[in-house]
Amino acid sequence: MQELKGKTTVITGAGSGFGREFALACAAEGMNLVLADLKHEGLEATAALLDADTPVLLKTCDVAKPEQVEALATAARERFGNVHLLFNNAGVAVTGPVWTATLEEWRWVMDVNLMGVVHGLRSFTQAMIDSGEACHIVNTASAAGHLSVPGSSIYCVSKHGVVTLSECLHHELGMLKANVGVSVLCPAFVPTGIADSENLRPQDAPKNPHPMTKSSDAMTKQAVASGRLSAADVARITLDAVKAKRFYVFPHQKIKASIEGRLQHILDERTPHNSLA
Ligand SMILES: NC(=O)c1ccc[n+]([C@@H]2O[C@H](COP(=O)([O-])OP(=O)(O)OC[C@H]3O[C@@H](n4cnc5c(N)ncnc54)[C@H](O)[C@@H]3O)[C@@H](O)[C@H]2O)c1
Repeated sequence: MQELKGKTTVITGAGSGFGREFALACAAEGMNLVLADLKHEGLEATAALLDADTPVLLKTCDVAKPEQVEALATAARERFGNVHLLFNNAGVAVTGPVWTATLEEWRWVMDVNLMGVVHGLRSFTQAMIDSGEACHIVNTASAAGHLSVPGSSIYCVSKHGVVTLSECLHHELGMLKANVGVSVLCPAFVPTGIADSENLRPQDAPKNPHPMTKSSDAMTKQAVASGRLSAADVARITLDAVKAKRFYVFPHQKIKASIEGRLQHILDERTPHNSLA
């Protein structure tokens, strides 16, 4: 998708972090923006950064709820017509060991990080195919979608799911010769609000009670805060990938050594390597 001017983008998780920077980058390209987030305050803060004449629709939407994502798609089409660029980006993170993680937090994170992407694909892809226009879907996974990070099992499981889902989608659209590109974004740590997902934790989803959770939380916060690339850098790299129709987007090149190590251990049938050790 080389020409973005005048086209329409829908961005989930647009109230903070990557989503906000996708919005600013797409606005700079002259796109119509449909910005969605669980939190309306975040959307308003993003909108306040846009030029006054940017065509924008703000929509509160919980990506875990299929009917709300469907309503987002309807609102986007009613306002701007066909949607050309979809960012399935909203996400949350939790930490703690596998066996004491609560079922409610499993459901919460899987419903947002994985099913949120599924809902986006179900509500937007067919219309993109039918339009025949050049369209593109960006699914935000993570480097964690290619690694097994101790203390981040739920997050890793959800992001591995987004990677394989995106690969399957790419193959299926290719088999149909659809004019719809796919990218899967796989960053390492970047300073955003992701380490503060606790603020969004549903009241009925108790935190992992294991003592190790505290140290995993602290480690994640520290890693996120010290990320060298900014969310704006990631947005720029991602839009370049959209224009080049590049599938895998790894803003952090150094993380590839860990991924290669994991894959080599798999192919050699060796005991998994602990990427934190
Ligand atoms: N920051 C990193 O280090 C990093 C690295 C790899 C991948 N990611 C992924 O990037 C994506 C964006 O996260 P970010 O880093 O910008 O964090 P962020 O917390 O700054 O932004 C995430 C946004 O998603 C929204 N959100 C959360 N749950 C939602 C829901 N149910 N429905 C709609 N919106 C919801 C939040 O309100 C927030 O505005 C996530 O999928 C995250 O997993 C982040």
